[in-house]
Amino acid sequence: MLSNFNHATRFDEFMRFALYDPQNGYYARGEQIFGRQGDFVTAPELSPLFGQTLGKALRDVLPRCNGVVYEFGAGTGQLACDILQTAGDLITQYNIVDVSAGLKPMQLAKLKALHGPEVVQKVHWLGELPDELRGVVLGNEVLDATPVRRFKWQSDGPLEAWVQHLNGELRWVWKPADPVLATAISDLQSAHGPWPEGYESEIAEQSTAWVKTMTERLNGLALMIDYGFHEAMYYHPTRSKGTLRATSRHTAHDDFLVKVGQQDLTAHVNFSAVYEALTSCNGELEGYAHQGEFLLAHGILELAQQQPDFTHPTRGALMRQHLNTLLNEADMGEAFKVICWSKGVNAEGTQLAQVFLDKDRSGDL
Ligand SMILES: C[S@@+](CC[C@H](N)C(=O)[O-])C[C@H]1O[C@@H](n2cnc3c(N)ncnc32)[C@H](O)[C@@H]1O
Repeated sequence: MLSNFNHATRFDEFMRFALYDPQNGYYARGEQIFGRQGDFVTAPELSPLFGQTLGKALRDVLPRCNGVVYEFGAGTGQLACDILQTAGDLITQYNIVDVSAGLKPMQLAKLKALHGPEVVQKVHWLGELPDELRGVVLGNEVLDATPVRRFKWQSDGPLEAWVQHLNGELRWVWKPADPVLATAISDLQSAHGPWPEGYESEIAEQSTAWVKTMTERLNGLALMIDYGFHEAMYYHPTRSKGTLRATSRHTAHDDFLVKVGQQDLTAHVNFSAVYEALTSCNGELEGYAHQGEFLLAHGILELAQQQPDFTHPTRGALMRQHLNTLLNEADMGEAFKVICWSKGVNAEGTQLAQVFLDKDRSGDL
């Protein structure tokens, strides 16, 4: 596999291969990467209350969006199952769009295990981004899984990371950034520096392009949840090694070039860039909030309290612990953000709009 990189390959292309190559890519490994037995646990895998609360939050916007949902990057299918549990009566069609088509059998099996045929038949798998997205677009931890370009700041000209196979291992090759990238890096440095010599970070060009294309095709509402920050924090001088992360067996590290296709590679999301991209395509920001505050305002605790075991000292302990992870500001509660935008339709007068008004963090963007 290393022979694929006998010629220097730009890091974002290497990352695409490592994650999404249909034979060798990380997501081709299927079920074994998700959950406690795998490499990482996402919010839907941690607790069904996450997706159930999201379903509740979407209830009054779904009728404005024809009851159609497009979920990007559906993973094991858990989020789909949980949204269909609390909003299934308002959903006419639930479309899953995943670049990792190999995940479909797992998603279908989970849906069948948790729902009857009348619900399962609402779920469709789409091979690619549809030309028109008339509905609610959703994605949890999708943008962070999008390949990034990696750069190094040097006062005599920024460099870009490439990867090459040399003497049996992959090595970094740093080349002068092309003029467009160099200008983007210099602009970021002027706005958020001064950076120390050798400062490294990422630019998520593909994620920005995806947000633009999706917004151009959107006639409805988009809601994306992910970990990340606004730009000033993303490119803060103290974050001198960037946000790129490799994860294997629940351990994050920075050996990005080893175990190609066997470890996850992610980068934090620059939500200011997402905001700029969506507004450049006439999307309208509906809100930007911390995940914990968003879920609490949409009644996650009330949903939890309806579970028979919630207050039981031992049987409810794990459920309460997972809830705490989702909500606590020292954990996923603040690290994860919810960003929502619309086009053609808006959320005015809905509970969703009210919560975003109450928990608004859009001033950070
Ligand atoms: C970290 S997993 C998250 C899975 C799931 N949403 C969850 O929260 O458990 C990222 C998922 O996004 C998918 N993905 C990444 N980029 C995508 C894109 N542009 N379109 C559709 N799916 C994408 C991957 O195949 C993978 O299923």
